[in-house]
Amino acid sequence: LRNGLALTPPMGWLHWQRFLCQTDCTKYPSSCINEQLFMQMADIMVSNGWLKAGYKYLCIDDCWLAPQRDKDNRLQADPTRFPGGIKKLADYVHARGLLFGIYQDVGKQTCAGYPGSQNFYELDAQTFAEWGVDLLKFDGCNYGTLVQLEDGETTLRCIICPYTSCIVNYTEVAEYCNSWRNFDDIQDSWTSVKLTMDFTAALQNQLVPAAGPGAWNDPDMLVIGNFGLSWDQQVTQMALWAIMAAPLLMSNDLRDISPKSTALLQNQEVIAINQDPLGKQGYKLLKVDNFELWEKPLAGGSLAVSVTNREEIGGPRYFTLVRAMLWKGLACDSCYVTQLLPTHHEYGYLNSSDDMSLLVNPSGTVLLKLV
Ligand code: GLA
Repeated sequence: LRNGLALTPPMGWLHWQRFLCQTDCTKYPSSCINEQLFMQMADIMVSNGWLKAGYKYLCIDDCWLAPQRDKDNRLQADPTRFPGGIKKLADYVHARGLLFGIYQDVGKQTCAGYPGSQNFYELDAQTFAEWGVDLLKFDGCNYGTLVQLEDGETTLRCIICPYTSCIVNYTEVAEYCNSWRNFDDIQDSWTSVKLTMDFTAALQNQLVPAAGPGAWNDPDMLVIGNFGLSWDQQVTQMALWAIMAAPLLMSNDLRDISPKSTALLQNQEVIAINQDPLGKQGYKLLKVDNFELWEKPLAGGSLAVSVTNREEIGGPRYFTLVRAMLWKGLACDSCYVTQLLPTHHEYGYLNSSDDMSLLVNPSGTVLLKLV
């Protein structure tokens, strides 16, 4: 959507994957969906370098609403879990230099069964504006079919058909949304990350041309720093989400995250690949010997390249990267090559006839930048 927003993929934090719809604050006082959770995350996003690293959106997902609208049909937050109300929370977030995101649904109910926006699009948009909401994740549960759409059609069309069940015209979607989900909900597992990568690669001929400044395919949240991914799998998610120009919305517990995962998520060289001003989404070039090679064109004729070892038995294996495998438009005859992940390493100049041997861990990724 050309509204001047999201010229690079949005970065921030979103509660869903890690905290889901936990509303029992007696049993789970520190991980239920309430205002404390978001106030604590806001504080930590500033104090622990997240905002400085670029993560500026703090976003609430489903399950913040009271079971009913108020007497004037306005949306209201659950009064026991959000006693201060959303406006006050948004002010708290803004006072720390962050932006504030919220969740609603186009249908009668949200995916978790709270009051949806159907029949109240105008009023809800007004309410969000009054509260100071900067970003809206607009879900597509409980709507029925496209034919039923009446009001707000143009702004809402994009989320009606978000998953694999129907054919989506992504170029058209990009006219109405700054970002849109493509695939199933991500989970805290390697299986889920792999499926998401495979789906994106399978559809890349449709997805890649739709992406650009102001319009991003969303393969869903970063789950780095949780329970399910090994170190190498975390590296793979970070590298591939950078290559895919994906929104970098973390869903993890910033109050309890290892220094290693923190450094990975805050890695400025990798973030720069994701946030590259050219805004081109990367794509899979080839799969050979159970290695996957992806590349992402960068501003000024540079290139980001990732090599993922999809073998899950045995140890690290060598992949031979041949320059001719890469983008033909590569501007340099002799490129300066830096490895960004899993560790920073300067390879120096590589001529067009040189091959590179890269050692890649099982389910891990080597991410390079060629300048
Ligand atoms: C859907 C979305 C998720 C999350 C939940 C909330 O499943 O895909 O990202 O927003 O709804 O109920």
